[in-house]
Amino acid sequence: MINPTYKQMLQGKSVIRELSEYATARGKEIGYENVFDYSLGNPSVPCAPSFTDAMIDLLEHSDPVAIHGYSPSLGIQSVRASVADSLNRRFGMHYEAKHIFMTSGAAGAVAHAIRCVTQPGDEVLTFAPFFPEYRPYVNQTGAVLKIVPANTDTFQINFEAFEEMLTDKVAAVLINTPNNPSGIVYSTETITRLADLLRRKQEEYRHDIFLVSDEPYREIVFAGVDAPFVGQFYDNTITCYSFSKSLSLPGERIGYLAVNPNATDADIIAVICGQISRGIGHNCPPSIIQLAVSKVIDQTSDLSVYETNMNLIYDKLIELGFTVVKPGGTFYIFPKALEDDAKAFCMKAKQYDLILVPADDFGCPGYFRMAYCIDTEKVVRSLTVLEQFVREEYGVKA
Ligand SMILES: Cc1ncc(COP(=O)(O)O)c(C=O)c1O
Repeated sequence: MINPTYKQMLQGKSVIRELSEYATARGKEIGYENVFDYSLGNPSVPCAPSFTDAMIDLLEHSDPVAIHGYSPSLGIQSVRASVADSLNRRFGMHYEAKHIFMTSGAAGAVAHAIRCVTQPGDEVLTFAPFFPEYRPYVNQTGAVLKIVPANTDTFQINFEAFEEMLTDKVAAVLINTPNNPSGIVYSTETITRLADLLRRKQEEYRHDIFLVSDEPYREIVFAGVDAPFVGQFYDNTITCYSFSKSLSLPGERIGYLAVNPNATDADIIAVICGQISRGIGHNCPPSIIQLAVSKVIDQTSDLSVYETNMNLIYDKLIELGFTVVKPGGTFYIFPKALEDDAKAFCMKAKQYDLILVPADDFGCPGYFRMAYCIDTEKVVRSLTVLEQFVREEYGVKA
């Protein structure tokens, strides 16, 4: 018999994927240039040329048996060492290769981290608005995901609600900064307060509370924004990183998990993740991709278009009277819809070929997300359409 849990999941398919599929189908009808598709967080800039050069170099000059061979299950040792060195250089940390576990993107990193530090029945807290895939990552471990309501004034942490929910059942806290979908970056003040509270509760409950920090957007931070490295603040931190967005490599499925060297059992967490992999059939990312990434470890694609797009959209939203917090990074913006039902708002926008994502699945009803990883020229054209949409549907004038 097919497992009913998974069968049940078919009822809750990703709204983002559905909208993106709709946008693609609509593009075939009217030309994709006429569909303003803000649905999917797929980078719009090419990967860094240095990554392509590294791949060509590996293909032309390395032993094909090695570069196409199995990777060791925790990742290639030299690659793990280069990740550790890079983090130490950039953030003043003291990682060693043994603290690094290579994964299939941030998805693989978060799913392993949660499995490693929870037991069935434990609670994992995350903060609204949150990446909807956290539900399957956590649910399938047997742990229970609980959502701390949003602080919609700033989208920093709602500490009052958080402290109330931080009971002794909580084994892990899952954060995402810079944040999908709000675009907000947690400030030094927020992370300091979070770390202080976790330390206090660890002492009170006499057990570890791990902080799983999901950071695929770490390199997409806008000018002048305070973007602390979370791992510096709290010993029991597992940092989950991905090259999907920084190097525009989402299809290559490459990322890592980095265990703070001062964490409880720091020296065995990566090894334990290797054992978790055996159970779920996750094999390391391809050897050649690991090797190529390690050659360009401190580089990124040209990410500047995201800040350009953000400023254009933010200014127009403000001009139109939307309630919106200015993003500090990522390629997302998260305004309040012009009616309570964000789904209805987004359905109306769809009639103008504006594809916006209602935020119900992000745990923040009444809001919507725009993923502005699209060409600036298209953003500019879309803003005229946005203006027309809100004027005709809501009587709003710029
Ligand atoms: C917050 C967040 N976490 C994790 C992921 C998964 O990313 P990856 O492609 O690295 O698996 C994404 C992807 O969009 C994301 O937005």
